[in-house]
Amino acid sequence: MKRRDFIKVASAGVIAPSTVFIEPSLKHNKNNPIILSTWSFGLPANEAAKNILDKGGNAMDAAEEGARLTEADVTNSSVGIGGLPDEDGFVTLDSCVMDHTGNCGSVAFLQDILHPVSVARKIMEETKHVMLVGKGAKKFALSKGFKEKELLTSKSKKEWQQWQKERREMTPHETHDTISIIVQDKNGDIAGACTTSGWAYKMHGRVGDSPLIGAGLFVDNEVGAAAATGLGEEVIKTNGSFLVVELMRQGYDPKEACEEALKRVIKKHNGNPDFQIGYVAMRKDGKVGSAALKWTFDYALLKKNKNKLFTINGMLTK
Ligand code: GLY
Repeated sequence: MKRRDFIKVASAGVIAPSTVFIEPSLKHNKNNPIILSTWSFGLPANEAAKNILDKGGNAMDAAEEGARLTEADVTNSSVGIGGLPDEDGFVTLDSCVMDHTGNCGSVAFLQDILHPVSVARKIMEETKHVMLVGKGAKKFALSKGFKEKELLTSKSKKEWQQWQKERREMTPHETHDTISIIVQDKNGDIAGACTTSGWAYKMHGRVGDSPLIGAGLFVDNEVGAAAATGLGEEVIKTNGSFLVVELMRQGYDPKEACEEALKRVIKKHNGNPDFQIGYVAMRKDGKVGSAALKWTFDYALLKKNKNKLFTINGMLTK
């Protein structure tokens, strides 16, 4: 039954609303790797991820490598080294990973470690926990051989010092934001990673959506995956990435699912949110989609060996 027919039947009272749930019988995409990531810095991240797939790595290996490339880019002011600090001048990093088995790992409020995404993966693979934060996360990272590194570059320090004079409120939209990357490998398995230094000049201790499974990232290998960028507080309130995946499970296509998740945000903000959220989604059959609230949003898609940047208008952009 198609989703629309199903909804018609359900609304006619034939099926109780609590059973409005279908799992699409999706053809599984195989032997056709797909890599989907946020923003223009997703382009080189996709290449790095593809390189790992070409060497025989799986979706998780590839997603981690793509995220690591962005984390190591000193020119990126919203991810990893070079990320703008919090209001007290500390660069604090949030990251998570989720693999095709439904395992996940996450790190929040991590300082002085170049690759939070790899710490998140180690938490997933080598501990009984999902999430470590702050000093505990750093202690774990150091115990696993990660080295301490100064992440506040002289450029971001200067910008922070200038900001301290004005103390103007920044939005994640101004600082480009998170890299979220979703990979489907040749076996058709899907994994993802999400990593950020978060909202520039945030309160000390603030954690956004990016390390929260279901908010910044969610993978369900039966259905697909989704990931977020933008104002983390608002993604958390709607458990955005989980919602997008569940909508795909109900039969929404990836773009429709992203739009439907954003409609809930728009409604909560009386039709006029003044911030950005962007979602990217990949379905098990290899179909991808994206939507954003406002302005424009870029995502990078590598498919059939072509890596391209797509720019979409926000749903509220006239
Ligand atoms: N989406 C990134 C953040 O809000 O921290």
